[in-house]
Amino acid sequence: KNMEFKNADFPSFSAEAHRGGRGLMPENTIPAMKNAIDLGVVTTLEMDTHITADGQVVLSHDEYINPLFSLTPDGKEISNEEGKNLILYKMKYKDLKKYDVGSKPYSKFPRQKKLKTYMPLLSELIDSVQNYIKVNHKKPVFYNIETKCSPAGDGIYNPSADEFVEKLMAVLIKKKILPYVVIQSFDKRTLQIIHKKYPDVRTSYLIENKKSFEDNMTDLGFTPFIYSPDYKLVNADLVKKCHDAKIKVLPWTVNTKAEIEQLKSLGVDGVITDYPDLY
Ligand code: G3P
Ligand code: CA
Repeated sequence: KNMEFKNADFPSFSAEAHRGGRGLMPENTIPAMKNAIDLGVVTTLEMDTHITADGQVVLSHDEYINPLFSLTPDGKEISNEEGKNLILYKMKYKDLKKYDVGSKPYSKFPRQKKLKTYMPLLSELIDSVQNYIKVNHKKPVFYNIETKCSPAGDGIYNPSADEFVEKLMAVLIKKKILPYVVIQSFDKRTLQIIHKKYPDVRTSYLIENKKSFEDNMTDLGFTPFIYSPDYKLVNADLVKKCHDAKIKVLPWTVNTKAEIEQLKSLGVDGVITDYPDLY
């Protein structure tokens, strides 16, 4: 009742910054999202979410503080062993926030700018982005928000799928951002819950399996707004099947200009890249 909304027109080509464009900036952070917006060509910010011990929605791809690109609150390296025990779902946000997720050089992304920053709350990220576009950009940006939830992680790395969805939706409703949101997941449960309880919210089914489009649709049990496969799984036949079913196709994670062009020629409705400067 308190969440009536009308979806905004989705971009004709969704140019998405994966984790805010982690090829350029520390992933899933406020500076990354602002940088992606500054490029002027990004229509959509892709991001990952987890739930903390105190029930907050935070931006992170990994279920723990990743030693590859994080430092302790006093600037020290984290061993892999230590990192694996720093589980977001077992930690309070006030403790998580002390870790620096931006200063440490990340060899996989040599062009990534280094700066000290922290893991933001989704609510704070939305406030920052909305304020930033109001002042600097003057056009709306879309949010492609992934729930990092899985049956194997229930009670260990994530709450139940129902609880995950409720926490996430509470933030999105409060921030009045739903017209600009797509919720994506590999976890069909979170999408099914959203479809049932919030049928107007756009969903995107992430696919990395080799099952057919038809089998994946049968598994999901409803028509999502977007079918979002590993880009290596995309071909003309898949694009046609999706479009015949009125579903958009959004491959990830496409990191060269040639591959972006190739996918565009197949008729995809957007791509997700670590290097949004390629757009
Ligand atoms: O949005 C698609 C893509 O982000 C899924 O892969 O592992 O980077 O979250 P991952
Ligand atoms: Ca993701």
